[in-house]
Amino acid sequence: MYLYVAGRHSEMERSGIELRGRTGIAPRGTAGRHSEMERSGIELRGRTGIAPRGTGQRPVQKIKLRRMSQMKIYEAKDYQEMSRKAANILSAQVILKPDCVLGLATGSTPIGTYDQLVEWYEKGDLDFSEVKTVNLDEYKGLDRENDQSYYYFMHEHLFDRVNIKPENTNVPDGTEPDAEKECARYEELIRSMGGVDIQLLGLGHNGHIGFNEPDSSFAKVTHCVDLTESTIEANKRFFASADDVPRQAYTMGIGTIMRAKKILLVVNGEAKADIVAKAFFGPVTPEVPASILQLHNDVVIVADSAALSKIPR
Ligand code: F6R
Repeated sequence: MYLYVAGRHSEMERSGIELRGRTGIAPRGTAGRHSEMERSGIELRGRTGIAPRGTGQRPVQKIKLRRMSQMKIYEAKDYQEMSRKAANILSAQVILKPDCVLGLATGSTPIGTYDQLVEWYEKGDLDFSEVKTVNLDEYKGLDRENDQSYYYFMHEHLFDRVNIKPENTNVPDGTEPDAEKECARYEELIRSMGGVDIQLLGLGHNGHIGFNEPDSSFAKVTHCVDLTESTIEANKRFFASADDVPRQAYTMGIGTIMRAKKILLVVNGEAKADIVAKAFFGPVTPEVPASILQLHNDVVIVADSAALSKIPR
């Protein structure tokens, strides 16, 4: 597990510079923090980074925690910075591989990330003309015109605002009543595209990713789920009432998500602090679906300080 307590280095990120593994001088003012972490039992192999000359950037401090997970956590001061960092990582993917497959998520958390991507597209810095997308999930029973469908959300927040080809975008078809047929089609579609290059995820209050709710086992492939009361409760804010929230959804499985080459999870706010600590510093269990990400070999979590306020350090 790597925790990046980042300074202002968005330029470095944007230019795709890998911040890991640079050696150099310790950033000013970190000594106190280091010894505090040492006292609390976190092992520090505190290699620190120096910013490239002339960038005027503050160095980035790399802290290696004891846990052997490959996760990297970037701490952002607020929602805006979290969104910009996440958008930087997605843009790097689009620039490096213009015909990449982006796995996308809905919900409140990634809205700022999409807004930032749109801004860079409008400035001429990003081109989506060859990008392909697959979304994580969709409510069963909502059609595309329904403004609460995830199809509608994606068009509103991203697809209709950039030069992506509509035929290159994919969301499970919530209007297909045959769940088995639709889930098999979607899983096969992802495979036929060569898999997902980078999967964007949000985090549910109960640890769900996609609509993979706490369960006794991890679901392997795209499937139909019954939403839990807590998810219905959390999502009712988007509907006229809780009764209007659909009771089922199609979602990529945990196995589908874990097959993505890279995973980028965004999370913000104090209300998610408990689940962040549980999911990424607790045991791996299907009771907390996101905890499985500890076993993926390329996960980046971009979180604001409030969401990280309860992690052990
Ligand atoms: C959305 C999705 C969900 C959300 C999660 C967090 O496609 O898959 O898992 O990411 O419910 O939602 P917000 O961001 O609204 O807190």
